Amino acid sequence: MKIKSCGIQVPYSSAEFILNILRKHRIINLELEFIRKEKAIVIPVLISIEELKKVLESVAIEFKYILDSFCFVKKEKQPNNLFEAVNESIPENLHDRIPKAFDIIGDIVIIDIPEDLLTYKLELGEALLTLFPSINSVYRKASAVSGELRIREIEHLSGKMKCETIHIEHGVKIAVNICNSYFSPRLGHEHKRIADLVKEGEIVIDLFTGVGSFPLHITKYNICTVHAIDINKEALISLEKSVAINNLKGMIIPTHGDCRLVVDTLPKADKIIMNLPGKAHDYIDVACKIAKPGTIIYFYQFVSDTDSLKEMEKILTDKLSKQDWQIKEIISFEKIRESAPREIHACLEVAVIPQQK
Ligand SMILES: C[S@@+](CC[C@H](N)C(=O)[O-])C[C@H]1O[C@@H](n2cnc3c(N)ncnc32)[C@H](O)[C@@H]1O
Repeated sequence: MKIKSCGIQVPYSSAEFILNILRKHRIINLELEFIRKEKAIVIPVLISIEELKKVLESVAIEFKYILDSFCFVKKEKQPNNLFEAVNESIPENLHDRIPKAFDIIGDIVIIDIPEDLLTYKLELGEALLTLFPSINSVYRKASAVSGELRIREIEHLSGKMKCETIHIEHGVKIAVNICNSYFSPRLGHEHKRIADLVKEGEIVIDLFTGVGSFPLHITKYNICTVHAIDINKEALISLEKSVAINNLKGMIIPTHGDCRLVVDTLPKADKIIMNLPGKAHDYIDVACKIAKPGTIIYFYQFVSDTDSLKEMEKILTDKLSKQDWQIKEIISFEKIRESAPREIHACLEVAVIPQQK
């Protein structure tokens, strides 16, 4: 069904600027579809042309726009998911490309939009804001996680342009800056699983702590000490914010630096967490320096989805033996999530001892 309504036509390059103003005044007509022209987009509004002129007078606008009455298509019903929210704006041959999953970190959504859907990134961003009233910002993944700090490039799509948020996992508040630190909301269950294994009075060392999700979970309910190491100063600034807003039972001692360079300042550990998949095996020498007979290591790796336990056991055994250490006991093996097609992110939990001659 077509409906005549007041709207504003703006070039695509300025659409986000205008959307932010309209959103602030809550005057976008969400019941109508945007109109896509070759070089411009038309956004339906809930107020008259005169009222819209007044709203825009207060803002410095340096591009051409048209305020007029346009014929919009009425959305059929309130969408229940992203597909329902955007499928009418996207050609049918691309429907199977519409993402089914996205990450929600606090009040921020991060979505991975396939290359062939990038023309529709504005609609996808707007739809996510509409679908989730508690969401204030939408970003898209603009690169893979990479580099020593394990961060990715992101592009702002809609809502507030902000990087900081508070993410809550099992009652633990985690301050996250998505622009400068690694964080995955898909590890919430793993953080809690490890925290539940820690006993009172233990010393835990998290060699690659990021924003400190493991230490926060562990100390939330356990009287124990966790040393949180990261090479990314910004991640540890977020951790300090989290420490201030959680009522922690235990103590977190953050240390900034390359774990190999700061290892001599650390005590012997009851438990060592090594969540730097793809690289953790290069730091087994570091773990051996803070291990004592019986120390438990949580060793994370990306491995093939077949024979993954054997693959991890072999990597760890080889690296430990170079340091004259060995596996005393394999305690558990946990498949955490699919990290790529036919590849999983897994955790091998082992107790280690010096090599028995
Ligand atoms: C996968 S992320 C950590 C994830 C975190 N454990 C969690 O569960 O959210 C890996 C972290 O290791 C840090 N890192 C990389 N190399 C390091 C090193 N040599 N020493 C200390 N931290 C390092 C990165 O800055 C990054 O924050």
